[in-house]
Amino acid sequence: MLKQFFICLAGVLLTYAVIAQQNETMEAGMGKVKVSFLIDQNGSPVYQVLFDNRPVILSSHLGFVLNTDSTFYKDFELTGSEKNSFDETWQPVWGEVKDIRNNYEQLIVHLKQKNSGLLLNVIFRAFEDGIGFRYEFPKQDGLKYFIVTDELTQFHMAGDHKTFWIPGDFDTNEYPYTESKLSMIDNSELVKNSTAIAVRVAPDKYAVQTPLMMKSDDGLYINIHEAALTNYPAMQLHVDKATNTFTSSLVPDAVGNKAYLHAPCSTPWRTIIVSDKATNILSSKLILNLNEPSKITNTTWIKPMKFVGVWWEMQTGKSTWNYSDFADSVDANGKPIPNHRHGANTANVKRYIDFAASNGIDGVLVEGWNTGWEDWFGNWKENVFDFVTPYPDFDMKEITAYAALKNVKLIMHNETSGSATNYERQMDTAFRFMTMNGYHAVKTGYVGKIIPRGEHHDGQWMINHYVRVAEKAAQYNVMLDAHEPVRPTGLQRTYPNWLACEAARGNEYNAFSDGNAPSHETILPFTRLMGGPMDYTPGIFKLKNYTTVPNRQVHTTLAKQLALYVTLYSPLQMAADLPENYEAHKDAFQFIRDVPLNWDDTKIVEAEPGSYITIARKEKGTGNWFIGAITNEKARTAIIPLTFLEKGKKYIATIYSDSTDTDWKNNPETYQITQVLVAQGKNLKIKLAPGGGAAIAVRPIEFPDNKKLPAKN
Ligand code: NOJ
Ligand code: CA
Repeated sequence: MLKQFFICLAGVLLTYAVIAQQNETMEAGMGKVKVSFLIDQNGSPVYQVLFDNRPVILSSHLGFVLNTDSTFYKDFELTGSEKNSFDETWQPVWGEVKDIRNNYEQLIVHLKQKNSGLLLNVIFRAFEDGIGFRYEFPKQDGLKYFIVTDELTQFHMAGDHKTFWIPGDFDTNEYPYTESKLSMIDNSELVKNSTAIAVRVAPDKYAVQTPLMMKSDDGLYINIHEAALTNYPAMQLHVDKATNTFTSSLVPDAVGNKAYLHAPCSTPWRTIIVSDKATNILSSKLILNLNEPSKITNTTWIKPMKFVGVWWEMQTGKSTWNYSDFADSVDANGKPIPNHRHGANTANVKRYIDFAASNGIDGVLVEGWNTGWEDWFGNWKENVFDFVTPYPDFDMKEITAYAALKNVKLIMHNETSGSATNYERQMDTAFRFMTMNGYHAVKTGYVGKIIPRGEHHDGQWMINHYVRVAEKAAQYNVMLDAHEPVRPTGLQRTYPNWLACEAARGNEYNAFSDGNAPSHETILPFTRLMGGPMDYTPGIFKLKNYTTVPNRQVHTTLAKQLALYVTLYSPLQMAADLPENYEAHKDAFQFIRDVPLNWDDTKIVEAEPGSYITIARKEKGTGNWFIGAITNEKARTAIIPLTFLEKGKKYIATIYSDSTDTDWKNNPETYQITQVLVAQGKNLKIKLAPGGGAAIAVRPIEFPDNKKLPAKN
């Protein structure tokens, strides 16, 4: 029997110590979710997770190999435990909903290793939609500065689940997803054939990255990831197919160590989100709730942003990042010789500024504006960029003045070519330069192998680097979009100026590779986006003949590109195509102009990873709703019950959908725009073409004169 007594009662926080017997099971639970903990006969810490009494995680071990203690996973005894419950509602600076409820029951177990006397705590939090747990190394004499050689956290799955996975690469997450049984995971071919930038040979062919999405045969949806990844390497998962067990596999540093820690300290949270409904996985706020509140006190300068960019034209080969053809192209006087295809020239940049200004687009990104692009690509090149020297045809002053005149914000581009040391040395100069020239957002990039040499994109050193950049950007009131970083873990709650990351295979792969499968965007929200917003760069309208490479096409319909602005949530969204391709479809572009980036509410209407997603979102501060529906390569009808509309109100729905003859392969650019009168209780039924989608703007109307109503759909 547990003997419990209350220690304190403060607000909603209820704490009581639990005196448990050795080997007794302790539990924390919330709704249908239950996590239990015990110490087994070897003194090893063990946990289990249930959802509605169904097994999610079977008996799984916890622990470490440390440099000072190779058996920091056994021989423990329980010295005490506590339980809390917590309930608060908080408001994000920007996001998918106005209010986020953070409600959990917490169990803290205090462990002591019998022989060494070393201490370890494990903190479990049970939410309605899953659990999080983290290790805490308390302040203690025997453990001060120490090295994590390995973390041995297990996730023993209850079956051979269907799994959506990418290989366990330490340097890139820009992979297509494979859907297979857990027992079929084998990444060797994928890694070998990868077109991903900076690909390395993964040493472990049975390793996958998180967020990892699974579905059990009996319909449980399970997502494993981590929250609040700071000062620790990213967790990948090694699968033991014989037992359906994943074990944490931390990204190593240059000499093979995993993490250098200094007690007291704790690890990131390991997260397991679970539901019998796929829609609940997408609405989960568990990862955000496990992150610390904003460290930035004045957040008024942080604003979601829609932008166009001198970018797709480089990706598709129409223009270049570099000014000259080669690093040594200089004339007799030593002046660089222009190649006449340099994208970031003043006139062209002004063209994008004009387009943004006349279409209500907030900002313009310009890549290839600074010297160094003649010889940037490749690995381990030091000092390629200085982040402050424009090419001769990029008139910084004139462009800054023109953008200000047109009320358009400029987005800085800082490609580091993987040389994080070079960036760190110059960061203050770079951010000062941005502020002086009116840039309040920066897109960073980490293409290539990392310097310090031997470090990895997802190792502890770089994890700390990304956070240092976010903090430095905040000091200068600059918003951040990182390309090629580690995948996010909810740190946007703590650093709300960190609007988005790439950290997955974006739309750009349709420019320089055979592209992404039509199912790709139906998987991303269940995997990569679980940790935070993605700069996916949607909105491609010219879906064929956009490069000189024959037969290349984007595996989508035009209407689906519109839907992505709703289904792939981000406070930073690019309208990625060229101005002239938008001018050719002004009516469809209207949706991109109108779609907001900040929301009061979100309803996940229907979803199945790999198949389809329909999401409705309510614009911040208005009564307008925007809906996005997408499908994989199969045609389907999205059925959208409009239960979320206000009772008694009438609305006009403007529907941007595939035409009857649209399909992603043969006829991707046809679409239709229709308007219908709708109200709460109505169902919208929208046909999605193979590889297609639909985007809908639903606005309330006061209608004294019904004759003005558009005809029926
Ligand atoms: C890769 C990024 O994802 C892309 O957006 C950028 O244009 C290039 N690197 C060059 O920095
Ligand atoms: Ca990239």
